[in-house]
Amino acid sequence: MGLLTGKTLLITGVITESSIAFQVARAAQEQGARVVLTGFGRVSLVERIAKRLPEPAPVTELDVTDEEQLSTLPDRVREHTDRLDGVLHSVAYAPPGALDGKFLDTTWEEAATALHVSTYSLQALTTSLLPLMDRGGSVVGLDFDASHTWSGYDWMGVAKAGLESCARYLASHLGARGIRVNLVAAGPLSTLAARNISAGDGSGTFDGGWSERAPLGWDSRNFQPVANACVALFSDLFPATTGEIVHVDGGAHAVGDRPAHTPAVR
Ligand SMILES: NC(=O)c1ccc[n+]([C@@H]2O[C@H](COP(=O)([O-])OP(=O)(O)OC[C@H]3O[C@@H](n4cnc5c(N)ncnc54)[C@H](O)[C@@H]3O)[C@@H](O)[C@H]2O)c1
Repeated sequence: MGLLTGKTLLITGVITESSIAFQVARAAQEQGARVVLTGFGRVSLVERIAKRLPEPAPVTELDVTDEEQLSTLPDRVREHTDRLDGVLHSVAYAPPGALDGKFLDTTWEEAATALHVSTYSLQALTTSLLPLMDRGGSVVGLDFDASHTWSGYDWMGVAKAGLESCARYLASHLGARGIRVNLVAAGPLSTLAARNISAGDGSGTFDGGWSERAPLGWDSRNFQPVANACVALFSDLFPATTGEIVHVDGGAHAVGDRPAHTPAVR
């Protein structure tokens, strides 16, 4: 018996094998879950990636900003399952003009795109799938700690602050239906989205000195801790937790400048 045996999850956000969503889908299947994926735009590419999971997963198209695709999503998901126990929101995008130190010059259109795709979409995705979660469920979103600024993150940081609040409001509105809504605030991981964000210092990296600050150390190529945290939140192990942000970042969020001792794991 796995932690997710008997559960069916809808997982957004797979675009490569190094997408956090792909790693969550793999870990969820390893714990017995059935998985349905959504793909944005390049569906045939996502279908190819989906075949590399332990169990090939069906893919249905979803642009989280497209009202029509959201409204037809439940019927398209019903082609694969009659109910969902969990939904992973692993979607974010900000135009180049909203990142990389351009905060002061970002136009409303650029900021609006970031907020639509990365923040409002948590409400839009969750509410569109309520017909499939009439027996409760668990919604998990991917966050990047929004309690500070991060060089280069700019309007994506604003979008993540909004995502944190959005998750709390959703938790408040959906608790009565037995639906939990939580975020995993991951440390930096080497994915396509992360590679589009530089530290604004020309270094081409965005990790804010994480591996030095995190008391437990941090390896941006190891997705397992983040994937496992998502699995745990989808499981029945957290029945009384909602509106929460679980930091899976080696402990970096808890430390101001550097840990008292050199991290053991690098
Ligand atoms: N990589 C990191 O360091 C890191 C750290 C903390 C949180 N996160 C968050 O994890 C999530 C997944 O990002 P990732 O790092 O795996 O990168 P990724 O590029 O693999 O995933 C981003 C996904 O967003 C999808 N997407 C973009 N616009 C969309 C739209 N309009 N509709 C539907 N899907 C759309 C892309 O197709 C892609 O699958 C994001 O919310 C990101 O902010 C990433």
